[in-house]
Amino acid sequence: MDFKKEILNLKAKDQFRVLNNLLHTNENYVVFNGKKCLNLSSNDYLGISQNQKLLKQFFESINFSKSNLLGSASSRLLSGNYNEYFELETLIAKLYEKESALVYNSGYHANTGILPALTTKNDLILSDKLNHASIVDGLKLSEAKNIRYKHLDYSQIELYLEKNRNNFENVFIVSESVFSMDGDIADLQQLIKIKNKFNCILYIDEAHAFGVFGKTGLGISEISGNIKDIDIIVGTFGKAIASVGAFVTLSKYLKEVLVNKSRTLIYTTGLPLINILWTKFILEQIVNFKNERENLQNLSEQLKRELINNKLVTLGASQIVPVIIGQNELTLKVSEELLNNGFYVSAVRPPTVPINTSRLRLSLNSQLNFRQLKIVVKIIAQKMKK
Ligand SMILES: Cc1ncc(COP(=O)(O)O)c(C=O)c1O
Repeated sequence: MDFKKEILNLKAKDQFRVLNNLLHTNENYVVFNGKKCLNLSSNDYLGISQNQKLLKQFFESINFSKSNLLGSASSRLLSGNYNEYFELETLIAKLYEKESALVYNSGYHANTGILPALTTKNDLILSDKLNHASIVDGLKLSEAKNIRYKHLDYSQIELYLEKNRNNFENVFIVSESVFSMDGDIADLQQLIKIKNKFNCILYIDEAHAFGVFGKTGLGISEISGNIKDIDIIVGTFGKAIASVGAFVTLSKYLKEVLVNKSRTLIYTTGLPLINILWTKFILEQIVNFKNERENLQNLSEQLKRELINNKLVTLGASQIVPVIIGQNELTLKVSEELLNNGFYVSAVRPPTVPINTSRLRLSLNSQLNFRQLKIVVKIIAQKMKK
């Protein structure tokens, strides 16, 4: 690769990315280039990372002289494992009423490590076209054949399985529940029907739903009342839980395969104890965030109505509210206008989203209010008219 040419090419397409230097304040704001902006790009959906009461309570409970508090110094398969990991996994398995759970260092580690470990060349993976990059990378690392079906088009899966199911040993169906860039929601009932009809293994990534949806915050699988029918549920701790890491719930048997074969679990240093303790501390009270969940849902409905009233294009049915702009250049301009007015909103461009669907991804949290969001809509609508 000609590196300089590659950079010039990305710049010419308005697809060049940079790491912004942000100063995070305690109340939903970031300071960027000296300007204080409301942060509408964070996945801290329940506002936990800013919850001073919880942080204080947590730090008061910590024994700061524990040796692996800030680093576990080894893979979990060597000496980087400890009892608190097991306690967390037991808690997760109990919440989901599953046989077992396994903690990974991140959602990226989980999604790139699970499919390659559980599949062989005799298998098939059916994956939604808009599944997250970590799932796509998991497909690439797996020996199985894969088909990326049209977003939410389950008839395509059925048709394919009717003709070809018998050519494969195991068939995995993989979908996000809340899609990270469109904010729309998979039909889990339908996926379960197909899984049962064709004897498949259903794998659902609840990264953006965990903590946010369901009476106790377990995700879309809890709302649909079908946790027990989903073989593999992944959730991440880096979003609504405001921590780091991820989990997978599954049978004891599948867990044993992962512990023995999942390279992203085996060949990496375990998480520091403090992260495991914080995750467990939050998970023990996740059921209590009912008001935050309701607030979030109301805010996203109000915002969507306001966008539509202003003739802007939006998608989805969750706290992720994309405003589709189309061209990269215009998306960057609107994002800049928002920044100048004190709102930090990511401009999401290809390859993260398909060409000509560049967008502003408004990522809500329960601490926001509709008055703030109305101003955002006004700024976008005005800039689009110019
Ligand atoms: C659907 C989905 N799965 C997995 C991940 C990766 O999670 P993590 O940030 O913990 O690596 C993301 C992150 O954005 C995601 O959106």
